[in-house]
Amino acid sequence: MKVVILETPQAVANYGAAMFIRQLTSKPTSVLGLATGSTPLALYQQLIAANQAEIISFKQCSTFNLDEYLGLAPEHPQSYRHFMNEQFFQHIDIELSNTHVPNGAAQNPLTAGDEYEALIKAHGGIDIQLLGIGRNGHVGFNEPSSCLASRTRVKTLTQATIDDNARFFSAEEYQPHLSITMGIGTIMEARNVVLLATGESKAEAIQATVEGPLSASCPASALQMHLSTTLIIDDAAASKLKDKAFYQHIERENQALLKRLSH
Ligand code: PGA
Repeated sequence: MKVVILETPQAVANYGAAMFIRQLTSKPTSVLGLATGSTPLALYQQLIAANQAEIISFKQCSTFNLDEYLGLAPEHPQSYRHFMNEQFFQHIDIELSNTHVPNGAAQNPLTAGDEYEALIKAHGGIDIQLLGIGRNGHVGFNEPSSCLASRTRVKTLTQATIDDNARFFSAEEYQPHLSITMGIGTIMEARNVVLLATGESKAEAIQATVEGPLSASCPASALQMHLSTTLIIDDAAASKLKDKAFYQHIERENQALLKRLSH
């Protein structure tokens, strides 16, 4: 995997946004894999600005989100569908009918996963998948011990994830303990993966992802087997990497090579 270490969370967002802008410019019909959480928000802001400046258009693209809470209807203010509409979709020129989020209110949650997988396939697969990472190494809601070949399905949330996300729910509000999430196998089929992480609280998970063994104990470590993954992280999230200087050296060499090739 490619590890890009930048000074600030804003630089992380800018670098990630530039990758999405390049993707959309070269293929306006791209299938984008999207993520919720606080980390991608600054990247979405950049994409909204690029869309409003008419640098990119989302008119022909389609999107698939990673996950949704089971038991929350799309219009529920805490649902990830609502989050995506509010934070991103309603500010860009995308057709809402081209945006997909797993159905947290599915009649039969046990078949909803297969239906989501079929829909991704019918769209030709995901060109570029955005990921955040949990402090426990989860991607999507693939919690530690998730099968590394898993597909979209119902997953039980760990107490750590429930606690991390409690900040979004008021005391009297129902907080789901189950989700529907793309599997690790689903994510591994995306042609490109972009994982963003910022802040000290993610440093341990990032160390395990990059330098730890390939293990279901850190689901993100499966990305060690992915052919085109870029981890974009700030200094704080990189602070526990043992070979940080080497990753920085690689990135400088890559940039120098690209510069030489472009002349
Ligand atoms: P966060 O969540 O971006 O809000 O830290 C990431 C995740 O849990 O995947």
